[in-house]
Amino acid sequence: MRILGIETTCDETAAAIVQRGADGAGDILSNEVMSQIAEHAAYGGVVPEIAARAHIDVLDRLVERALATAGMDISDIDGVAAAAGPGLVGSVIVGLTAGKALALAAAKPFVAVNHLEAHALTARLTDRVDFPYLLLLVSGGHTQLVAVRGVGEYERLGSTVDDAIGEAFDKVAKMLGLAYPGGPNVEREAIDGDPQRFDLPRPMLMRPKPDFSLSGLKTAVRLEAERIAPLTRTDVADLCASFQAAVIDVVVDRSRAALRVFREDHGHPNAFVAAGGVAANGGIRRALGRFCSEAGIRLVTPPLNLCTDNGAMIAWAGLERLALGLADDLTFAARPRWPLDANAEAIHHGKA
Ligand code: KG4
Ligand code: ZN
Repeated sequence: MRILGIETTCDETAAAIVQRGADGAGDILSNEVMSQIAEHAAYGGVVPEIAARAHIDVLDRLVERALATAGMDISDIDGVAAAAGPGLVGSVIVGLTAGKALALAAAKPFVAVNHLEAHALTARLTDRVDFPYLLLLVSGGHTQLVAVRGVGEYERLGSTVDDAIGEAFDKVAKMLGLAYPGGPNVEREAIDGDPQRFDLPRPMLMRPKPDFSLSGLKTAVRLEAERIAPLTRTDVADLCASFQAAVIDVVVDRSRAALRVFREDHGHPNAFVAAGGVAANGGIRRALGRFCSEAGIRLVTPPLNLCTDNGAMIAWAGLERLALGLADDLTFAARPRWPLDANAEAIHHGKA
């Protein structure tokens, strides 16, 4: 089975072809991504109107390139999958509408994919992880720990009550004069910094429920920066290192809490999967590596280009759903808010 996947929920336009063989193994035949970072950099964040227009400008070319690289025609694929949310509604509509149009024109089944589910299932494409597993999903818009029991079966164990971790990285970068997106730049600065110079808070540490809170930490960084302004290069590096060290402590502690909850309900997980853009952070990866080896769990971190937003993850999620007969109607509407675990959303008012 071969699926075309389309992703336009935020600031990456992406199209990919993924194939699954009879043995269940996934194979990425093409994976085209065009980042809009340059278009948004001047504003220090993603501007929805610019994002939607940029998706329109490049999506058809990316789809053509994805098919050409895979050596295929639209008639060679078995279905079209497009991310239908959560995300910026104007952007989501671009990819969703294009996906539906292609499916209709080629008379292929259509799958509306939840972008978070695509992040969640990527580890099955890259590492053939079996259910159930524990997922840490950390990106610019999302921070959650999820028990993944099967396709469509997600239980959110905890999430952030305020900012997402990637958002905190981006805001800290902005206040320190570093370019957007902040995560990679904060990480680069932190390499030469002193992680112990600033005594920053570790919000939520030791709480049994694996929730996160980032806004107090972000504010603490701002107060320290204001206290010692004007900032030297060393100050910036030390603030980045101290901030990243606090985030790492929080991520490991919250993951430990989630593992405890997971084990009570589902036994030993087959893996601990870290996904989303923040999972590209080397410091976080190394700390999770230590945590998992102590806990005796296999750590799975998809390669960086599959951790950040991409089309292959949408194609793979579409493939997993289609294989279970879960095709969608062409009337499927964009869902700017679309939690992975609908039950958790009702009780929780943090970000999805
Ligand atoms: O998953 P993603 O590409 O997009 C969504 O938000 O869905 O994640 C982007 C986020 C941004 O906030 C970015 O600053 C953060 O991931 N990020 C990082 C790193 N690389 C990307 N954060 C920390 N360290 C990094 N190396
Ligand atoms: Zn994402």
